[in-house]
Amino acid sequence: MSPPRVVLGVAGGIAAYKAVEVLRGLAESGHEVTVVPTEAALNFVGVATWSALSARPVATSLWTNPNEVSHVKLGQEADCVVVAPATADLLARATHGIANDLLTNVLLTARCPIVLAPAMHTEMWQHPATQSNVATLRSRGVIVLEPATGRLTGADVGPGRLPEPAAIIAAVQDVLRRTPTGDLAGRRVVVSAGGTREAWDPVRFIGNISSGRQGVELARTAVSRGAQVTLVAAHLAVEPPAGVTVRSVSSAAQLLEAMLTAAVGADAVVMAAAVADFRPEVTATSKIKKLDQPADLNLKLTATVDVLAELVRRRAGDLPVLVGFAAETAVDATELSELGHHKLARKGCDLLVVNEVGRQVVFGAEENEVTILGHEGTSVQVPRATKAAISDAVWDAVVHEWKRT
Ligand code: CTP
Repeated sequence: MSPPRVVLGVAGGIAAYKAVEVLRGLAESGHEVTVVPTEAALNFVGVATWSALSARPVATSLWTNPNEVSHVKLGQEADCVVVAPATADLLARATHGIANDLLTNVLLTARCPIVLAPAMHTEMWQHPATQSNVATLRSRGVIVLEPATGRLTGADVGPGRLPEPAAIIAAVQDVLRRTPTGDLAGRRVVVSAGGTREAWDPVRFIGNISSGRQGVELARTAVSRGAQVTLVAAHLAVEPPAGVTVRSVSSAAQLLEAMLTAAVGADAVVMAAAVADFRPEVTATSKIKKLDQPADLNLKLTATVDVLAELVRRRAGDLPVLVGFAAETAVDATELSELGHHKLARKGCDLLVVNEVGRQVVFGAEENEVTILGHEGTSVQVPRATKAAISDAVWDAVVHEWKRT
């Protein structure tokens, strides 16, 4: 089988030097990469570097070998076009179909998935012009990764950093694995992940062992299917994927607040977080000293808010699809199904992803086995599979719900 053909567009921003790492990673993992730098990009990294690392000629102009019609051929033949960094100017030209250099011509002729990894100053990213361009591109199915937040050129800090090269490579590989693609294009989804912590003094908490892996995979697969994703993260043990907006929370109460805010205008909300059901009634303001205590320490616990139930209770107007997860221990498949249907009815969400815990450990594991229950009595069995494959099955069920309503 011939290697996947990737066009790596590089626009003129300082982060162009990081695109060298993207090129190396893609080339070393068996992709045939053609680099198309803009003229401005060549001020940062020259043709010799791109050509040597890709082991291919580098086309920089519409006027190099016009007999090869490379502006049409490159786009038509690519399996994926990725632009890193995508500057504010590049995003604007891509949005409006301006084709005044080779890279923007490639973007117009490409019929394959397009991944744009923006990098620019925070002000430029947040400008209404850029935000409206990004929204338009996303509505057309272009995958525009959220920029990372951190140190930018100079002393400023904020959203606008190029996502890490490894994360961009992973996004390209995800897209290449997935054909057809883009069925979540133009959709905004919210995923909660990880485990909440309820403090009983400034240094101690009641928590759980959730790694956040399933929620992170849900976010990653949604990005690669074209969605705009907010990940509400409670103490993740794994890195969040590139291209999502991360809102970090700690307790169930903070999770509720973040979910209610993020859910406004969303098309789907998935509660994959393991939320503590109880919290200490009182949180001590200073560290509880062993010497001040009798032999036993009694912590009085009180119920936390049920975030999913609260989302169900408050939803109105254009309803997002609400998905819950349920970890159950059961003696057999029949009991598991009964427990699941009972919980689905109790929670009032649209879909419930039920997994059995106890016999095999699910928390932190690479694989899982689930049943996706629908509120109309539907049941989809997903045999043991990676958490990425489980996530895809969940999004398939969400897409099915959207079509139904
Ligand atoms: N959940 C929530 N808020 C809570 C507890 C759970 O939003 N305080 C959500 C979880 O994120 C999950 C779903 O509810 O999507 C089911 O969680 P689970 O722990 O299985 O159920 P519980 O409601 O806690 O019920 P029980 O522990 O009795 O099984």
